[in-house]
Amino acid sequence: MKLKELVMMTALACAGSAFATDVEVLHYWTSGGEAKSVGQLQIMVKEAGFGWKDFAVAGGAGENAATALKARVISGNPPTAAQIKGPSIQEWGQEGVLANIDDAAIPGKWDAVLPKVVADIMKYKGHYVAAPVNVHRVNWMWVNPEVLKKAGVVGTPTTWDAFFDAAEKIKKSGGIAIAHGGQPWQDATVFETVALGVGGTEFYKKAILKLDQKELTSPTMVKVFDTLGKVKTYIDKDAAGRDWNLATAMVINGKAGFQFMGDWAKGEFSAAGKVPGKDYLCVAAPGTDKAYTFNVDSFAMFTQKDADAKKGQIALANAIMDPKFQSIFNLNKGSIPVRSGVSRAKFDECAIKSMDDMDSTNKNGGLLPSFAHGMALPTATQGAVTDVIAKFMNSNMSSKDAVAALAKAAKTK
Ligand code: BGC
Repeated sequence: MKLKELVMMTALACAGSAFATDVEVLHYWTSGGEAKSVGQLQIMVKEAGFGWKDFAVAGGAGENAATALKARVISGNPPTAAQIKGPSIQEWGQEGVLANIDDAAIPGKWDAVLPKVVADIMKYKGHYVAAPVNVHRVNWMWVNPEVLKKAGVVGTPTTWDAFFDAAEKIKKSGGIAIAHGGQPWQDATVFETVALGVGGTEFYKKAILKLDQKELTSPTMVKVFDTLGKVKTYIDKDAAGRDWNLATAMVINGKAGFQFMGDWAKGEFSAAGKVPGKDYLCVAAPGTDKAYTFNVDSFAMFTQKDADAKKGQIALANAIMDPKFQSIFNLNKGSIPVRSGVSRAKFDECAIKSMDDMDSTNKNGGLLPSFAHGMALPTATQGAVTDVIAKFMNSNMSSKDAVAALAKAAKTK
């Protein structure tokens, strides 16, 4: 072998990339809008002098990614950072595998620029172990106004009765009323929104967040399942297993009138070049305009053996909290910046509504963590509750039976 070749091969073997250290990032952002968003983070990490080792695991809401993460941590080889959120950050903290990133958080004044509710989620035993990227709102209804117009629907429904009138008209006009993907987490997303719309904020707090048995077995919960059962009848027969972004595409392409989904759906509308207020509408789901179910994406850092990897973690954390990143990322992702100090100028009307509604619901008590997106319950409880909802969506289970099963599942620890 010639010397030149040997030198090149050695360089490649040592570095693996053009950078001294790679940060390996586990995430589940693989749809069009999501990939654009995470691409921005890669650019900023590289600008900071670190390589990006992409560990993307497809699957909405990150169920597959969570399984992949467990396997890696158990084998003693965790990635540098992983997209996890809510109570599961505490659960990983208890395993003793998370890294302290106060070296980014203290100079970056994270306590001052983050809402307290978010800062608390990012800390384990008082130290930052995760960096937040955004705030997604879950209780949205995405609307194709052309489909509604064709069906003779006037305005957008704000109550469930008006919603079902509109859905019936769309069905009669030959369209699909509700774009949905039959996957447990999507079922849970719709359930959560229906529960909030039918029962209101106080009911959501007691039944879903506190898992109060009295509320879980109340006539209101029966009504929630009755409403969900009606929602089911307006979903097309091919929904089983469909990915959420394909459901969003049905609204984008005028095949369906509505989708109940968090504002990562807006990332798909934006990637397709669609304009809010014209090509599509973002409105709070029926009965939920005074509330806001929030879902904050974040990256938790895992303890690394390699000392340089620690520097990479701090660089990643700094990049995530950089106002420039928070702006570009969230413009693509459909969410809003989680930190203060980011200009609103470039954000569209859906994002501005989200920002204003987050502020107002924070004052009126309507700012609520999303259970379906891992912000509210221990993972085991969330899984058991989601199973019941998915079973209801995929069988002839009665509302009464669903309520009984839900109340039992809520006791899962
Ligand atoms: C995450 C989003 C993601 C969506 C679909 C949600 O739980 O918070 O970032 O785009 O799932 O995978």
